[in-house]
Amino acid sequence: MRALVLTNGNEPLNYRELPDPVPGVGEALVELKAAALNHRDIWIQMGKYAGIRYPVILGSDGSGVVIATGMKQDAEWIGRQIVINPALHWGNSESHQDPKDFQILGLPANGTFAEYVVVPISNLSPKPLHMDVAESAALPLAGVTAYRATIKRANVQPGESVLVTGIGGGVALFALQFAMAAGASVYVTSGTEQKIRRAVALGALGGVNYNNAGWTDELRKISWGFDVIVDGAAGDGLDSLLDLVKPGGRVVLYGATRGYATSLTARRIFWKQINLLGSTMGSPADFAQMVRFTELNVIKPVIDCCYSLEQGELAMQKMSEGIQFGKIVLKISGASG
Ligand SMILES: NC(=O)c1ccc[n+]([C@@H]2O[C@H](COP(=O)([O-])OP(=O)(O)OC[C@H]3O[C@@H](n4cnc5c(N)ncnc54)[C@H](OP(=O)(O)O)[C@@H]3O)[C@@H](O)[C@H]2O)c1
Repeated sequence: MRALVLTNGNEPLNYRELPDPVPGVGEALVELKAAALNHRDIWIQMGKYAGIRYPVILGSDGSGVVIATGMKQDAEWIGRQIVINPALHWGNSESHQDPKDFQILGLPANGTFAEYVVVPISNLSPKPLHMDVAESAALPLAGVTAYRATIKRANVQPGESVLVTGIGGGVALFALQFAMAAGASVYVTSGTEQKIRRAVALGALGGVNYNNAGWTDELRKISWGFDVIVDGAAGDGLDSLLDLVKPGGRVVLYGATRGYATSLTARRIFWKQINLLGSTMGSPADFAQMVRFTELNVIKPVIDCCYSLEQGELAMQKMSEGIQFGKIVLKISGASG
């Protein structure tokens, strides 16, 4: 098969021929029609991720058709159009992933930037009917992360005001869509005015540029504080977010694109009775509920652009520059629809 291989840190992905993978017991061989990028792929390429091994095929998101199974009893899956839940071996708890066994598809196991991938049967989910192949490939990792963070952990309610930071990101855009579907009023931040305008066109009530010196004051002017803040940036902006959340509000953190926060004002957290929530990916139940939520609310992923598999390195460069609005998709082997 043809695949994009990362052979070392800080190197371009290498488009090359590799042996086709073979499904083992409880596994399926999927012919991929499309894959999608996540910021995780960039962190791994930069060497900034735990447990890196080389060579590895990156890619956590994929949509395709099952063409073989390791066991005859799973043969009913053959020929079905599926999306892959990239959270491998989540474990039995709904509150957190198994600290020992949990993995994300695309490191250490080879991922979806390839013509074929082997995944556990239990990670297959029927492709949502209201999405085309590229949209369904854009859904899994960012969709389940945004769903757990916004709907399950923060438990956004109708009429609440929600701030989603860094709206150009894949997770952030799903958080916007999911919070709106839950009946909330949603505001955003972004590094460009153009992305804020695009978010408003999707239904956000307004937004500010986090590069402006007085961005927190600007946010205070357009909203009286937020019941919920969904943040994937962290860094030193996190402390300012604690200032913007209403007393008794929730701040849910799913990432640290800006790095770790060097200081947090503890007084803000205890005096305002803030609920600071962490969230990572999601359980199998979260994944199933997320897919159902998109079907019920007819939510489709926002796609920035599509490349061919061969052009994967160009796609990685675009994501590294942070100029995308939404998901970047790789179309694979005659993908259609
Ligand atoms: N815990 C988990 O399960 C999980 C799952 C998925 C992702 N993550 C993490 O979450 C982050 C986002 O992932 P992604 O795949 O959605 O990435 P992405 O599509 O590459 O988006 C990254 C976004 O970060 C935003 N950003 C950059 N600087 C910012 C700042 N100073 N303040 C606020 N936002 C800023 C940008 O927003 P603008 O373009 O609007 O400026 C950019 O679009 C990454 O750090 C990733 O590792 C964690």
